[in-house]
Amino acid sequence: MRKLIAGNWKMNGLASSLAEIEVLKGLTGKVTCDIVVCPPFTLVEKAAECAAGSAITVGAQDCHAQTMGAYTGDVSAEMLAEIGARFVILGHSERRAAYGEMDGVVAGKAAAVHKARLASIICVGETLTERNEGRAAEVVCAQLEGSIPDTATSSNTMIAYEPVWAIGTGQVPSLAQIEEIHSSIRQMLKERLGDDGGRVRILYGGSVKAQNAKAIFSVSNVDGALVGGASLKASEFAGIILAAD
Ligand code: 13P
Repeated sequence: MRKLIAGNWKMNGLASSLAEIEVLKGLTGKVTCDIVVCPPFTLVEKAAECAAGSAITVGAQDCHAQTMGAYTGDVSAEMLAEIGARFVILGHSERRAAYGEMDGVVAGKAAAVHKARLASIICVGETLTERNEGRAAEVVCAQLEGSIPDTATSSNTMIAYEPVWAIGTGQVPSLAQIEEIHSSIRQMLKERLGDDGGRVRILYGGSVKAQNAKAIFSVSNVDGALVGGASLKASEFAGIILAAD
């Protein structure tokens, strides 16, 4: 399966940050994996213009489930499609924690993303308490069950396993722990989507760096990465991309 490496810039980046995309464009023709950069809403259009014709595609970090209406401050999937986004990250643990986004809300947003002919990157992951209670796989599969809409296929859906305790902490699960959860996710996807579930890309996210990426990518059912901090600098992000190739 072709790997997909996505950078989640979170609430970072002004117009000057587009220089990082300029640098990444240098990888065009040199790598076979898919590369996605998800800047804040304000940069999506400019980033898409900058990346046009290169190996890089652009995504956003959230959207509303409705197409339009009285939703002050929100942005629809259709609006994102119009300005050049091709992917939307949904259900990130930072949004689940800060805005109380439940699985059903994430599923509604994912259906809207699919309707706008974009691809969703649906995030799931356990907290440290849940892991210590031995419930990591159970929690992740329950989140997944509730967060995947009926419109999901292997071409419009990617799953990102991001243990909450590994995000921005420098702590990474052991390769065996990653393998266990990715294999549970794969099994659940096959139950839900049949053979097509075997083709959905499952990304790992949480403190991925150039130096640990190769080991993580060697784990079975790891089909790419969702990278936060290390995606902000093109030199570091390129190291992760090259490790995937
Ligand atoms: P870090 O790579 O900074 O740990 O963040 C991971 C993440 O949240 C990506 O969505």
